[in-house]
Amino acid sequence: MEVVCGSGVCVSSLPRSSTITRSTVPQFRVSYQYLTPFPSQSHLFSYHPPPYAKTLRARTTTKPAIFLPHLVASLQVDQTYIMVKPDGVQRGLVGEIISRFEKKGFKLTGLKLFQCSKELAEEHYKDLNQKSFFPKLIDYITSGPVVCMAWEGVGVVASARKLIGATDPLQAEPGTIRGDLAVQTGRNVIHGSDSPENGKREIALWFKEGELCDWTPVQAPWLRE
Ligand code: RTP
Ligand code: MG
Repeated sequence: MEVVCGSGVCVSSLPRSSTITRSTVPQFRVSYQYLTPFPSQSHLFSYHPPPYAKTLRARTTTKPAIFLPHLVASLQVDQTYIMVKPDGVQRGLVGEIISRFEKKGFKLTGLKLFQCSKELAEEHYKDLNQKSFFPKLIDYITSGPVVCMAWEGVGVVASARKLIGATDPLQAEPGTIRGDLAVQTGRNVIHGSDSPENGKREIALWFKEGELCDWTPVQAPWLRE
């Protein structure tokens, strides 16, 4: 006997002891403890447990390995700080990188070529200052000019992280900036804010007042209804 219930959980060949009564689903009530769950993929981008999580927890303790699951594009307009790192500038990747964000449909509100100081790099990456790679990271970021960008849009922080790809370019998916354009974590060509709060913090850190531009792109009505 096969039953598909409202949550999309599929049950094949229920054991004889399964409880099936009329009330949860129009035709049947299916007791979850007897289900063989094939969870939908929808929970992969959230830490909210699916309704059958208790059953799942008993069977597996590992969390799905996913990229920044807490960063789900919200409906609010966010700002993110994107930076082409010195290797990206030296390798002539600035145009390609800007183009990916433009084509996606986000709004550029700040842009400059900039040689950053050690102090600014340390402040930007202050959360990592206990890491063994911190001194090398600061040397890397200050080794040449960077291109600083502020981008705005609905869900831009999460979406930018997806466009950028995983920190280690060899793990980054093809189609992402790091996946397509880099081979090593220490030369991963681009930075992107990891939360809306950090987006605001980093834009305020890298841009002075008057360097940002509030404007309305003519294509706006063709991007969002
Ligand atoms: P980013 O802040 O630059 O956008 O990179 P991320 O969020 O993907 O990664 P995060 O953990 O914030 O690390 C910041 C940068 O530090 C360098 N790194 N090196 N040698 C290492 O193990 C190592 N780990 C990180 C990378 O340049 C990374 O982007
Ligand atoms: Mg980071």
